[in-house]
Amino acid sequence: MPHDKIFITRSHIIPDAITFLQSRFDVEVWQENTPPPRALMLEKAQECAALLTEVTDVIDAELLDGATTLKVVANRAVGLDNIDIPAATRNGILIGNTPGVLHESCADFTLGLILSLARNITYGDRKIRAKEWTVFDQIPYLGTDVYGATLGIVGMGLIGTAVARRARAFDMRIIYHSRTRKPEVEADLGAEWRDDMDAVLSEADFVSLHMPLTPETEYMVGKRELELMRSTAFLINTTRGRTVNPRALYDALSGGEIAGAALDVTDPEPIPHDDPLLSLDNLLLTPHISSASHQTVRRMGQMSADNIIAALQGEPMPSCVNPEALGGN
Ligand code: GLV
Repeated sequence: MPHDKIFITRSHIIPDAITFLQSRFDVEVWQENTPPPRALMLEKAQECAALLTEVTDVIDAELLDGATTLKVVANRAVGLDNIDIPAATRNGILIGNTPGVLHESCADFTLGLILSLARNITYGDRKIRAKEWTVFDQIPYLGTDVYGATLGIVGMGLIGTAVARRARAFDMRIIYHSRTRKPEVEADLGAEWRDDMDAVLSEADFVSLHMPLTPETEYMVGKRELELMRSTAFLINTTRGRTVNPRALYDALSGGEIAGAALDVTDPEPIPHDDPLLSLDNLLLTPHISSASHQTVRRMGQMSADNIIAALQGEPMPSCVNPEALGGN
């Protein structure tokens, strides 16, 4: 094990985890803040036992099929849409992620987006800095009350549940749809189940997306779904940009079919500086930072390091999504 080589695809995000791994392994770190070039990733996958990756690193079938030495990929994220899991499994490569350490931070952030959007907090800030606030007049800044409103959650996993818990403190009514029904969340938080996403979309004042990006959820919110929403309703997306069709969202926001949207994630990402969405006043954008608190990023780094150590020691990983990979090959 001391000779196992690890490649870490970013230098500055998780310094503590890097130091921790360096004390145990032969660690190489990509020193830029951009993803390593494809050719380098292919090369590293053929000489390392482990890769510690970010969501923007593409770990596809070509890379995994050629990864002769690779035993584990630890993604510093809960989402795994950048990794071809079936290809990893058939090559006997374990895949780790970081659930359980970021949901509270993501939920804090989601509530922040809901409040900012509903009460024009960032909109007001934008207008002042643009020198457009010249007279005391609240009418252009009238918002929508959050308390007492209906929050629709799509995807009641750890993050969705943490959002629901916070929403309760704002006296919001909570409705939800998820792959699996969650009786404990219904009992604890009074969340009401809906059979399908359409029912959530048509009933909610705020719709917050928390499902993972999979082939089934890709562009799951498009023209038809946005038309189901109320004209006074808001959409919040903190999961992955590709769950929402950006052109349909532009049409719905500019045509007044919905009242506004907050996106922490976009398609593509980063959003191009000339994207038409940037011209809309009823859209709030943040740069994919819902989990990004100092404390949580450190915990995600440590969990990724722990995933690698466990996998290379042949022990159960803190979070492995394809333990069956060990039986394969
Ligand atoms: C971040 O986007 C994550 O999936 O953790």
